[in-house]
Amino acid sequence: MTKRFLGHAPGRVLGWVLGVLAGVLLTGQAWGADLMGDWVFQAAPSFPRFTKMVIRHDTDGLRGTITSEWYGDLPMLDLKAVGEGPAGERLVFHIDNGNPKLKPLDLTLAPDGSGIRLTGQVWYEKQDATAHRATAAEMAALDFPTYPLLAPAYVPSNGLARTPPMGWSSWNKFAEAIDDKTVREIADALVRSGLRDAGYVYVNIDDGWQGDRGPDGVLHPNVKFPDMKALADYVHARGLKLGIYSSPGPKTCAGYAGSYGHVEQDARTWAEWGVDYLKYDLCSGEGFYHTAETVRAVYQQMGAALNATRRPIVYSLCEYGRFDVGAWGRDVGGNLWRTTGDIEDSYASMAAIGFDKNGVPRHTGPGGWNDPDMLEVGNGGMTTEEYRTHISLWALMAAPLLMGNDARSMTRDTLALLGNAEVIAIDQDPLGRQGLPVRKRDGMEIWTRPLADGSVAVGLFNRTDTPVAITADWPALGLGDHPKVRDLWAHRSVAPNAAHMVPAHGVVLLRAKP
Ligand code: GLA
Repeated sequence: MTKRFLGHAPGRVLGWVLGVLAGVLLTGQAWGADLMGDWVFQAAPSFPRFTKMVIRHDTDGLRGTITSEWYGDLPMLDLKAVGEGPAGERLVFHIDNGNPKLKPLDLTLAPDGSGIRLTGQVWYEKQDATAHRATAAEMAALDFPTYPLLAPAYVPSNGLARTPPMGWSSWNKFAEAIDDKTVREIADALVRSGLRDAGYVYVNIDDGWQGDRGPDGVLHPNVKFPDMKALADYVHARGLKLGIYSSPGPKTCAGYAGSYGHVEQDARTWAEWGVDYLKYDLCSGEGFYHTAETVRAVYQQMGAALNATRRPIVYSLCEYGRFDVGAWGRDVGGNLWRTTGDIEDSYASMAAIGFDKNGVPRHTGPGGWNDPDMLEVGNGGMTTEEYRTHISLWALMAAPLLMGNDARSMTRDTLALLGNAEVIAIDQDPLGRQGLPVRKRDGMEIWTRPLADGSVAVGLFNRTDTPVAITADWPALGLGDHPKVRDLWAHRSVAPNAAHMVPAHGVVLLRAKP
């Protein structure tokens, strides 16, 4: 590193040496005095909203910590000096927010007048922010609190979700554009369409409802949700239940207030409102909780906090399937746990999750379910046959069925896909076993799911772009030569030896009884 600085004109080098010496005398630091010290950012992009930095060069070498509103204090990794002497003096480093998908992109620090300028990129967000030298008081005001984690303990089951939760969630269609009025209209639509009576009872507000905390720390909704208790009453009056969303980190995935430092308080707030379901999404918490032990501990903390409210609240863990969540999700009080990243409204995304990434089947069962994410049915990005595949796969997997569309304006096709009682009965079968592929070959897949009454749900899937005929080999499926077979989408009995024409990207879903 020092060598890099020697290849310059003697005059510049002499000037630089004198500058460093001055820095040494003034600050006691042996290197790069211009950039060493305590810094506070004037303003910084909202993700991850850097607030301050400490940069030192001492007997421990060159090191730094950068603090952000999303991830708290993070070490500056691989911090090193680059550049051509004092004028071009720069430091580069990167951060690790605990997300395996985050590319470790360089962040650069360079002198900027009497300040320091940070440039680069974190995740998708370009960074360009300046910081000024800060007093001890300014730095202390931006200290990021840390909290002790609970020791591992077993959270007793809340007894809910004996079958996979069913309902609707705002995120896939509305994202942050969700408000009280829309939620009420959705509740009405679920009743009017008959979908409530078909089983879709949870009306879940996902990210984007949160406002600010009061001086007492109580979290208030934002202006789009003027009165959460009144909204819960409205939903309850229609025989439905209300869901809400938060994060164990300081920020949710869309940048709203998370429950960091307010876990028990938030659980009490939601219980007072009359909330019946919580989706708890790791989001910025991934910056704090990088290990199986710490992630488990924060989910345990909320599980215990929900139980302590004594209100029955379905607890949905959303940490994208990290650390084999199904193996411990129940033990922290969870009723369902996401097994994947986010679904998108495309056949490729849905098929990648549904066919090939659906958690560890033995972890699913009454009270606790693998969750391959919410439905996209009715959002327009797939054909009717593709959506039929989507819901058939979810039913075979015993997945939670959370509609993700605008339930106020459904086509007949969408309503028929979501409201098929025979398909819902597969999903909600009380045995609670997760279906599995028994054959995957040449783009064709046969899946089976054993059901409580001794019958078996059988999915004949065609992942190719052209229709194919598929015949079920009943003896090989353990159903004898002549099972009674019903086609659950055609709503009719079929001959056991029938060859089924399965459309491109489509499915034939059967229920067979030996
Ligand atoms: C994450 C979750 C999504 C959704 C968004 C909201 O990406 O996985 O399901 O809740 O956050 O910001």
